[in-house]
Amino acid sequence: MCVTSRRGSRDETVRVAVVGTGAIARGSHLPALAALAAEQPLRVVAAVDVDADAAAAFCADGAVPHPYTDLERMLDEQRPDLVTICTPPRFHRDQTVAALRAGAWVWCEKPPCPSLADFDAIEAAEAEGGPYASIVFQHRFGSGARHVRGLLAEQTLGRPLVAHCQTTWYRGTDYYSAPWRGRWHSEGGGPAMGHGIHQMDLLLDLLGPWSQISAMAGRLVHDIETEDVSTALIRFGSGALATVVNSVLSPDEVSRIRIDCERATVELTHLYGYRNADWHITPAPGVNAEEASRWRDFGADEPSSHLAQLRGLLADLRAGRRPRSSGADGRRSLELIAALYKSAFTGATVRAGEIAPGDPYYTALHGDAPGWAPESPEPREVVAG
Ligand SMILES: NC(=O)c1ccc[n+]([C@@H]2O[C@H](COP(=O)([O-])OP(=O)(O)OC[C@H]3O[C@@H](n4cnc5c(N)ncnc54)[C@H](O)[C@@H]3O)[C@@H](O)[C@H]2O)c1
Repeated sequence: MCVTSRRGSRDETVRVAVVGTGAIARGSHLPALAALAAEQPLRVVAAVDVDADAAAAFCADGAVPHPYTDLERMLDEQRPDLVTICTPPRFHRDQTVAALRAGAWVWCEKPPCPSLADFDAIEAAEAEGGPYASIVFQHRFGSGARHVRGLLAEQTLGRPLVAHCQTTWYRGTDYYSAPWRGRWHSEGGGPAMGHGIHQMDLLLDLLGPWSQISAMAGRLVHDIETEDVSTALIRFGSGALATVVNSVLSPDEVSRIRIDCERATVELTHLYGYRNADWHITPAPGVNAEEASRWRDFGADEPSSHLAQLRGLLADLRAGRRPRSSGADGRRSLELIAALYKSAFTGATVRAGEIAPGDPYYTALHGDAPGWAPESPEPREVVAG
């Protein structure tokens, strides 16, 4: 089908709709949109939620004129330029495709969608020059990541050699008492997919393409379908090796990335978001002190945030350029996670690119693996309201 994007030019007002009006929509999307509306012509024109009271309250609190419970109706009546999707992951594919087909660009919350097959269906609904669908991976967009990405790309720190990527968080039984959590169909996956995805996405953004992965997963504490911990070894195209831990069993919570390069160690330690001060660069013996102090100059402090990513996306929308974290650049982390599960559940090493149509891990992250796949058939969702 032919899709026509109605992108705004620099001076045109970009009309935005928010789909799903829960915690992340209120806590991060609306504030970022409000901040950007103060910088450029932009208006939040509508919000959609299956819960009519939630949509109405969101609109009242955010001065958004049009609450809806029906996505298709909103798309038809409001013709937004950009739709931000803040619903649970199982709705992401169908809602993203519906918005793209209506000519709107999409900014969809992580995790992108339940499988690589779903992601490819989203990509197929994009059109050259827009509309495009970009995934929220806000940790790529702080000034710290930008600075370190630049140092690594220029090889100023020498070759990256070995890395650690850690998402060790804690979620108790109260967290898993919500019936939709811990299930492949409704939560999308365990901590590899739902929690560690941010750190792993940032690792890939810094180190570039991966080539192979060997992983293990465990269900050690919680009575759930998915894993509650996973570990992995990854080889990168550059030759660098990395270890990854994704856990919801770790009382002392931390998110950490450490990359040892030939001339320095770069380390980021935070929990749910970082500032420049959370990054540390330790030069190797013999590195000139002046050079090391230049490396440590991160410039103006821009925290990792929805705001930083959305600002870039709007510039791309106005210019009709593919935004970061869309297409192959948005798919990469999902492919790594699919490969992590495939390796953990089969015991095999998995290579980049091998999970293709026909592979059970292409259509479901559990890959129908005995002991891991849901025991009862997963209900098929209809396009959400
Ligand atoms: N980027 C981040 O750091 C970050 C942090 C938290 C959550 N998230 C992601 O944001 C998404 C939403 O999480 P949340 O914590 O806001 O959840 P939430 O439960 O607080 O909100 C979800 C909202 O979506 C609505 N909804 C459910 N099904 C719908 C449908 N079919 N159509 C329209 N509305 C529907 C619900 O009524 C609810 O209001 C998830 O994908 C989650 O992983 C991202």
